[in-house]
Amino acid sequence: MNDALKGKVALVTGASRGIGRAIALRLARDGAAVAINYSSNVGEAQKTVAEIESAGGTAFAIQADVSRVSEIVRLFDESIAHFGRIDILVNNAGVMFIKPVSATTEAEFDRIFAINVKGTFFACQQAATRLSEGGRIINLSSSTTARFMPTYGAYVATKGAVEQLTRSLAKELGPRGITINAVSPGPIETEMFMEGKTPEQLQQFGQLSAFGRIGQPVEIADVVAFLASDAAGWVSGQNIRINGGLA
Ligand SMILES: NC(=O)c1ccc[n+]([C@@H]2O[C@H](COP(=O)([O-])OP(=O)(O)OC[C@H]3O[C@@H](n4cnc5c(N)ncnc54)[C@H](OP(=O)(O)O)[C@@H]3O)[C@@H](O)[C@H]2O)c1
Repeated sequence: MNDALKGKVALVTGASRGIGRAIALRLARDGAAVAINYSSNVGEAQKTVAEIESAGGTAFAIQADVSRVSEIVRLFDESIAHFGRIDILVNNAGVMFIKPVSATTEAEFDRIFAINVKGTFFACQQAATRLSEGGRIINLSSSTTARFMPTYGAYVATKGAVEQLTRSLAKELGPRGITINAVSPGPIETEMFMEGKTPEQLQQFGQLSAFGRIGQPVEIADVVAFLASDAAGWVSGQNIRINGGLA
């Protein structure tokens, strides 16, 4: 534990697994109390809470589907009822599929936009009035937005929207002292990335980085912790690509 976020309260969406879990663990290690949002995986969410508590931290799990505005409002209500305030919002919950645009259905398009874009947009809307003065918002984008990758059409469209929203909101939230930034991971070893890939494909993705490997969730969490800290108070509207020098 250290004291960088002592007395702060963080809400991390999609914190039951993967990158969100690593972010929750790291913010808790820095002293924040953390609301652990999840969609359906209560067992994994409780594991995140237990891991934080066994390290001496404070956490609380809250189920909410971020694709529904009413559930986002409830997520903020319950987090504030439990911890008294929210200082840091991490919009991490997300889904991905890989498919040519020509084969993407309307239902698939609507779902990925509802979770990745609508979820982030309306959580930011709640944060605009309910985050503490001087608060922090960190949105998860993806390094795929800077590459020409076939079959990622719907996914990169959602993350492009998240990046633009982040830039626009920086000026809207500035008067309340709130910073908002995006982080854009390259390939990270989570269920989302590993699912359906052969060992050869995984090796090829690893070779795209300067270090010849895929990244780890904690390597994203470390940068998020910096953006959440007082030390990042003059950083807003930015997008940090965390990808090991992805080619
Ligand atoms: N992994 C990568 O290589 C990579 C690269 C670039 C960007 N990213 C981005 O990083 C973020 C996290 O990705 P990940 O790889 O950690 O994914 P992951 O392992 O698949 O975990 C996804 C998390 O999001 C939650 N979630 C999904 N739909 C939700 C909903 N409707 N409402 C609330 N929570 C929901 C899941 O909750 P349940 O456990 O309850 O299902 C889970 O906690 C995403 O925004 C992703 O686009 C990932």
